[in-house]
Amino acid sequence: METGILDGKSLSKQIKEEIAREVADWVGQGNRRPHLAAVLVGQDGASRTYVDHKVKSCAQVGFESTLIERPADIGQADLLEIVAQLNDDPAIDGFIVQLPLPAHIDDQAVIEAVDPAKDVDGFHPSNMGNLALGLPGFVPATPAGIMTMLERSGVETEGKHAVVIGRSSIVGTPMSLLLSRSGSPGNCTVTLCHSRTQDLAAHCSRADILVAAVGRPGMVKADMVKEGAVVIDVGITRVEDPTAKRGFRLKGDVDYADVAPKCRWITPVPGGVGPMTIVSLLNNTLEAARRSADQA
Ligand code: GUN
Repeated sequence: METGILDGKSLSKQIKEEIAREVADWVGQGNRRPHLAAVLVGQDGASRTYVDHKVKSCAQVGFESTLIERPADIGQADLLEIVAQLNDDPAIDGFIVQLPLPAHIDDQAVIEAVDPAKDVDGFHPSNMGNLALGLPGFVPATPAGIMTMLERSGVETEGKHAVVIGRSSIVGTPMSLLLSRSGSPGNCTVTLCHSRTQDLAAHCSRADILVAAVGRPGMVKADMVKEGAVVIDVGITRVEDPTAKRGFRLKGDVDYADVAPKCRWITPVPGGVGPMTIVSLLNNTLEAARRSADQA
C-alpha cells in the first residue's frame, strides 16, 4: 500500500494565498479589510501559541486583527463585558475566545454570549444547531479544515464508513455531523466512539476513514486500523522531550510510525490538521465580513 501524506502545511499555504487574493479583490471593490479579534485569557502556553498563529495568519491574508489579553484571574462579568463590546463593535467582523478558560469561568456562558453572526468559531448553540440541521452557519474550524483537506486531496467519502473517536463539542460531534451530511465530502456512515465505547479497536478496524480526536498520544495502533484506511489525527499533545529545543514535542493520537504503513492517506502531527484549522477560521471571518457588508 502506497501511503500518501495529507500535507496540511502546504495545502494551508496554498489556500491562504487564495484567501489573500479574495481579500485583495474585496478591498479593491471599496470594502474594508476583514477584521478578526481573539481574546486570550491567562498564560497557557499552548493557547498562546495557537492564538499567535491565528493573528499571524490574519496578516498573511490581509486581514486586520486585534488580540485582547487578560490575566487568568479576570472575573466572568468582565470577560462577558469584553464579549459584549466585541459584539457591538462594527469594526469587528468576527471574534474568538480561546478555550479552555480558567476553571472559575463558565465556558458555556461565554460561548452563548457571542453574537452568532460574529461566532467564527461556530461554537454558539445557534451555529451548532444550524450545522445539525444542514442549514447555513459557521462550522467549527477544526472539522471544517478536515473536510477541506479531504475535498482538496480527492479523498472519496461517499458511502464510506467513518469512525470518529471523541465526542467533544469542538471536534468530534461536529465532525460526525459533517461526515454524515448530504454532500461532497460527506455521505459517510458514521460511528461516533467515546470514553464509554465498548471494544473501541473493533469499531476502529472497520473504518474506511478514521478521525482520532481524544488527546491521548499514540493511542491508535496499527492493529486498530484497516488496511487502506484514511487516518486523520487531530491530537496535538505536548509531551516532555529534553532533547527538543522547547523541552517538549507535539504528539498526535495516532502512533504514526506503527500506523502509517497500513494507510492510504494519513495526516502528520504537526503539519496535518493544525494548519487547516486556521484556514477555516480565516474563511469563516471572510464570510462574516461579506455577510455584514450585505446587511450594511
Ligand atoms: N481551543 C482549542 N481549539 C480551539 C478553537 O478552535 N477555538 C477556540 N476558541 N479555542 C480552542
